[in-house]
Amino acid sequence: MAAVAGAVLIEAALMAAAHAHAPYSRFAVGAALLLEDGTIVTGTNIENASYGLSLCAEAVALATANTAGRLADVVAIGVVGGSIGPGGTIAGEAPVRPCGRCRQMLVEAAQMGGRDIMVHCASADGAAVERHMLSALLPHAFGPDDLLA
Ligand code: THU
Repeated sequence: MAAVAGAVLIEAALMAAAHAHAPYSRFAVGAALLLEDGTIVTGTNIENASYGLSLCAEAVALATANTAGRLADVVAIGVVGGSIGPGGTIAGEAPVRPCGRCRQMLVEAAQMGGRDIMVHCASADGAAVERHMLSALLPHAFGPDDLLA
């Protein structure tokens, strides 16, 4: 069940990555959030000529979930990406793991929902797949729970 959900999330994330706006890094990333009712919310990275304004795929997906009032409903995320090649192909053998900022953003969703989040990371070629709990990717995190203490 968990493995099937992971494969579905990675597939949805890869479809989102096809729409990456990444002309500067030429690195496309897709993210797919699984909500507790089975809804999948996707995002892809969007870069900017003012480089520092670029947004990660995970951040875009989380913002979309939040816009629907669903930030607290995230149970899992799939992340996949790779280099953009000729014709828009996405290639890569290494799994993409959420950057530090995105881990912190995921902690916000996790603590809002009172749960840990499963993170499925995959390479663009599909050969490498990893599964981590968010708490292992960002241990001892600061989050909204700390503001309530
Ligand atoms: N990127 C993501 O979208 N998510 C990550 O977790 C790591 C990096 C994007 C940002 C930038 O557009 C490109 O990948 C290269 O860093």
